[in-house]
Amino acid sequence: MNTPSSSLSWQTAYKLLSGCILPRPIGWISTVSPQGQPNLAPFSFFNVVCANPPTVLFCPMIRGATGGAKDTLNNVRATGEFVVNLVTESLAQAVNLSSVEAPPEVNEFLFAGVTPVPAALVRPPRVAESPIHLECRVSHILDINDQPGGGSLVLGEVIFFHIEDFVLQAGDKINLEALQPIGRLAGNHFCRTSATFEMERPPAWRPAENPRLALLTMLTARLERLSVDSIWARRASGLRGSLLKALAAAESASPLPDSHLDELIERSFDILRRSAREIPDPENALWRKIHVP
Ligand SMILES: Cc1cc2nc3c(=O)[nH]c(=O)nc-3n(C[C@H](O)[C@H](O)[C@H](O)COP(=O)(O)O)c2cc1C
Repeated sequence: MNTPSSSLSWQTAYKLLSGCILPRPIGWISTVSPQGQPNLAPFSFFNVVCANPPTVLFCPMIRGATGGAKDTLNNVRATGEFVVNLVTESLAQAVNLSSVEAPPEVNEFLFAGVTPVPAALVRPPRVAESPIHLECRVSHILDINDQPGGGSLVLGEVIFFHIEDFVLQAGDKINLEALQPIGRLAGNHFCRTSATFEMERPPAWRPAENPRLALLTMLTARLERLSVDSIWARRASGLRGSLLKALAAAESASPLPDSHLDELIERSFDILRRSAREIPDPENALWRKIHVP
């Protein structure tokens, strides 16, 4: 399939996006209306934004059937507060029940059979059965489109963490086996996190001590920018691949000979010149240093 999104209905785009972007974590969001009516609903368009300040996001869509905003969005707009309750395997049925498309006067805590407990700093209650609650104050709401299938991005600063001791280890690590979180897939499918695997992250990038490698690192970045907006895109991106290979070879302690590196540098300069760019000063200076030490 190769198709511009403009040829698709929003329903098809939704199916493709929710089928492609997975597994998704689930934020079980509790809110209250300005009159104090509690509300609870799951959102899998949900994630972390950053840690300073600690910030999370979730995305309520506009209802396809009625074109109306979801109660959760109306509540966070009106009150500026929500709680994220983390979802575990044993809560799956309750989470699903709480997604019922019901009018604002329905209290999904009651409908899903879970227990509301007061939060420390915000008005929405927490779900007692969930082992982790993040109390949030809304920091931004970005409305993308108010038509059916459209939606908004709600960002909230986490102002209070509640984490049950049994899911915590060493003070700041979450014990996955104790938590047993679940994720959302496409349609009615969900997944467990019981089949995990581990990988070491690559070591931090060290600036090359060899000036030729330092120059290649700078040229790699220049060529990357060029390949976005230049008719030289193809050649620039092919050459960038060669530069990256040369840098990787040096990292793994088997650097290419200087003559080969010089050739790559010359070819990079050539593309930059031909694409009507000045060779930037830092690169020129480094090149002169290499040849007139
Ligand atoms: C696991 C799960 C994840 C969901 N994720 C989203 C989502 O990210 N965005 C959304 O608009 N609706 C999502 N829904 C549907 C809402 O939960 C549902 O529309 C709910 O009725 C909204 O409730 P409210 O009107 O009380 O806010 C999800 C449903 C389930 C079961």
